[in-house]
Amino acid sequence: MKGFFVGRKNTSLESVEQESASLSLLAKGSGLEFMKHTINKDTAFYIYPGSSPETLEFFYVLEGEIKCENLDLILESGDYFSVKNIADLIFFEAIKTTRLLWVVNEPTFGLISENVYKLIEIVKSVGEKDLYTKEHSDRVQSLSIKIGKKLNLSADDIDNLIVASILHDVGKINVPEEILNKPGSLSDEEYDLMKKHPADGAEMVKDTYYADISTIIHQHHERVNGSGYPDGLKGDQITIGAKIIGVSDSYDAMTDDRSYRKAYTPEYAMDEIKRLSGVLYEPEVVHALEQVLLEDGVLE
Ligand SMILES: [Fe+2]
Repeated sequence: MKGFFVGRKNTSLESVEQESASLSLLAKGSGLEFMKHTINKDTAFYIYPGSSPETLEFFYVLEGEIKCENLDLILESGDYFSVKNIADLIFFEAIKTTRLLWVVNEPTFGLISENVYKLIEIVKSVGEKDLYTKEHSDRVQSLSIKIGKKLNLSADDIDNLIVASILHDVGKINVPEEILNKPGSLSDEEYDLMKKHPADGAEMVKDTYYADISTIIHQHHERVNGSGYPDGLKGDQITIGAKIIGVSDSYDAMTDDRSYRKAYTPEYAMDEIKRLSGVLYEPEVVHALEQVLLEDGVLE
């Protein structure tokens, strides 16, 4: 029956084994993940503050016994708790081997999934070669999420954007360091090498839990008038996620110091992006960027 899914005991969509715990993904969709988390006896674990104030986590103790160190409280089978907008870590210890049902409204499983973890490690190593990439990726991610929310994207699109924006330049691992950090313009040959990074990145992500973001990564340098790369796609041929990352990426590059020039002011960068709205950038995305910068007090 379409839309109806039954999972049998001890099966899952994907499972990750860790030293003293295991995590199984049971269902995913509409921005939610449902997982079964097994924590071995005598293992300490923490719950971290979510990445946004809207992050909600729900835990139901299926079996076992855990102690919450912060409240000096023991939770057992049938007990449950939820976490939203906490300021500090919450500490637990499994007194017996414990199984929790864990529901969360932000991408969690994929970040623990080994394949995605490896890709994030590659992004970090690109950050070491390329002076700008690491912090640049973090800022592009935060701006992209704000733009996506402003545009009322679906929860699934936002989830994909969260991961795509952090991994968008992962393909730069194949670009030589001298080209990544070359001040001034690149030769045609060098530029051809640079232009391979979106397709290379898309290929690296294709076989992971986050296969949906492969297209976004592939298209993040495409521009609405067809002047982008690698495929010269136009307008509606480009996904909204790629258009958002394209705008955030350009804005952040302009407002960041480069070895060959000082950072432009946010006002200058915004004017420049507006001038190219409908040419290089999607007008609704440009408008959303301006709204976000005004709300954040970056622009007046
Ligand atoms: Fe890029």
